[in-house]
Amino acid sequence: MISLSVKYRPTKFNDVSSQTSIIRILSRQIDTNTFKNSYLFCGSSGCGKTTIARILANEINKHQGNPIEIDAASNNGVDNVKQIIKSASERSLDSEYKIYIIDECHALTSQAWQAFLKCIEEPPKYTVFIFCTTEKNKVPDTIKNRCQVFNFNRIPSELIRLRLEYICKQEGFLNYEDACDYISRICKNQMRDGISLLEQCAAYDINLNIENVLKVLGSYSYTVYFKLINSLIDGNLDSIVNIINTIYNDGIDLKLFVDQFLSFILDISKYIICNNLTVTKFPSNQLEEIKKATNFENPLQYYQYIMNKLIILKNDIKNDTDIKSTVDVYFIQMGSYQ
Ligand SMILES: Nc1ncnc2c1ncn2[C@@H]1O[C@H](COP(=O)(O)OP(=O)(O)OP(=O)(O)O)[C@@H](O)[C@H]1O
Ligand SMILES: [Mg+2]
Repeated sequence: MISLSVKYRPTKFNDVSSQTSIIRILSRQIDTNTFKNSYLFCGSSGCGKTTIARILANEINKHQGNPIEIDAASNNGVDNVKQIIKSASERSLDSEYKIYIIDECHALTSQAWQAFLKCIEEPPKYTVFIFCTTEKNKVPDTIKNRCQVFNFNRIPSELIRLRLEYICKQEGFLNYEDACDYISRICKNQMRDGISLLEQCAAYDINLNIENVLKVLGSYSYTVYFKLINSLIDGNLDSIVNIINTIYNDGIDLKLFVDQFLSFILDISKYIICNNLTVTKFPSNQLEEIKKATNFENPLQYYQYIMNKLIILKNDIKNDTDIKSTVDVYFIQMGSYQ
């Protein structure tokens, strides 16, 4: 079965989320027949580089034929490039232009780039190269100077949410609004990740109510974290020691726990500062708990203290051989905050 992210890969410029200025420029180049011979698409993973490269190729060739896609990570040597250059000099049989999409191009060796240089500077008339990379700094300047470079944005969560909702609607999923909102905020602004998370949840149950979604994406154990922060606020040392013991005995990696708890505390602080959930990763059903955990005098000052402690703890346990004791010490100290 094909994945949802492949099934919902846009095939027209109009269907692509975000990247509006890039699409505008490329559409104009198509309309006025002024497209270039070489492009470099840069940006984080899953934000539309390959998608837009394919659409561009399709538009240039007026919907005839297919571009040739090369994964530079596994074809990174000078011989591979010589072969590409040789075949680039031959006309395409099924379309006007021969279009190469060279993915992960940062993996090319410097000799391989060297071999490309001349070809990119004076390309065969009916050839277009579209290089894609997540690591622009690894592409030689000599190449960047000869390509039209586009920097792709991370996709705003709001647009990811809309795309996820569209997919849910098409797929007939149920009760998906809160899930789409939540996933759009935890997927690090990467559309592919967002769609994969959605797919994982739907595989569990097409009823995507937030309880089901949290069960599947259980990285955030809200119940435990709220219990812990409330015990810290109350100075209930007995409860704190027991919660840490349970986490430890459940076999959870304590470094990971400290990281996740820090990110949880950071999110509460963001909620206090902005007074809304959209800037955080919290799902909407946690609002009551958040309100309870911030309902005292000067909560921001308190959460800043906890964040500082956790940052120091995180550093302290990097090379620690007895992490559990160090974690215990810090949490007892935090629970004794006056
Ligand atoms: N801007 C976007 N609009 C709509 N869907 C998108 C967008 N970007 C990515 N997607 C979705 O994510 C999937 C992966 O996108 P794509 O292959 O274009 O990412 P990429 O930028 O090439 O990532 P990588 O660097 O990992 O190769 C697509 O199949 C599509 O479903
Ligand atoms: Mg890609």
